[in-house]
Amino acid sequence: MEKEAVNKKVWQEGYTQTYAKIPPPFVPSKKHIAACVKILKSIKKKSGNKALVLGCTPAIRDCLAKIKFKVTLLEFSQNMVETMNGLRKIESKEKIINGLWTEATKYFLPKTFDCVIGHAVTNNLVNLELYEQFFKAMKTILKSGGELIITVTNASPILQTAESVIEKCKHRPGYFKSLNNKIYIWESCAYSDPRFYNKKECTTEMNKFNLFLGEKLKNKEITQKEYDLMTFDFYNQPHRVTMLPEKMFDRLVKKYFIIVKKIKEPVKHPAFSKFYTIYQLRKK
Ligand SMILES: C[S@@+](CC[C@H](N)C(=O)[O-])C[C@H]1O[C@@H](n2cnc3c(N)ncnc32)[C@H](O)[C@@H]1O
Repeated sequence: MEKEAVNKKVWQEGYTQTYAKIPPPFVPSKKHIAACVKILKSIKKKSGNKALVLGCTPAIRDCLAKIKFKVTLLEFSQNMVETMNGLRKIESKEKIINGLWTEATKYFLPKTFDCVIGHAVTNNLVNLELYEQFFKAMKTILKSGGELIITVTNASPILQTAESVIEKCKHRPGYFKSLNNKIYIWESCAYSDPRFYNKKECTTEMNKFNLFLGEKLKNKEITQKEYDLMTFDFYNQPHRVTMLPEKMFDRLVKKYFIIVKKIKEPVKHPAFSKFYTIYQLRKK
């Protein structure tokens, strides 16, 4: 089954069960949403209130409803939409299109939206070739001066090997009791260790680190307690993602958009600031 179809199955059948327990920064934090609202209010004033959400992130849909945007969703899994509806805090009318982001020009006329917004969207493109298609489609469906607001997770700026994580867990288990510490060391390893992260293609599968530690557990090299301290049970699926080094992403996106602003995740912990950036992008 090709990667995009596998990803759809992972979202349809997997994350519909676990999304509610996935913590920020893997999903938007309150401070993150507050930073997006500031940008959205400036767009509404300058351009208008027609917004396209890529995916069906409950927190993004709620903030758009609060500031009175007309909202359309482009999401390939109707299951996810229905599941995420259950996690919303506000009820509001939305138009829902089930389709691929890279094929957005199939569903929308040119210059339709004042803004397009999404969290960890390009990271869900299964290979680098799809980036060009994605940016071209977004550029087409945005009005002149329209803005694309995407949160991007970048590859790890440092190399953290699985062995160094295990070493740390054996000698300082307390470190992993802080959720943000655990997320930081998990991201540092999952997005850098060459057994998990393919530097040339900038790809990984979100379950690779768990599978590796599962082998160590089977071989009694680590205990069940250590396994639980180092892993997230919601990342047990072959979810293909692309994680680009920040500079590489900037070079790529500048071919299509002007980077108006890059906002680091406003939560003061490297699990957030080292890996997540909100991009405010204006159509060239
Ligand atoms: C927006 S992304 C990342 C999730 C994000 N971290 C969040 O908190 O919602 C995931 C959502 O997009 C959908 N999705 C993933 N890849 C897609 C694609 N290529 N085209 C359309 N929808 C896609 C998934 O079904 C899921 O609902």
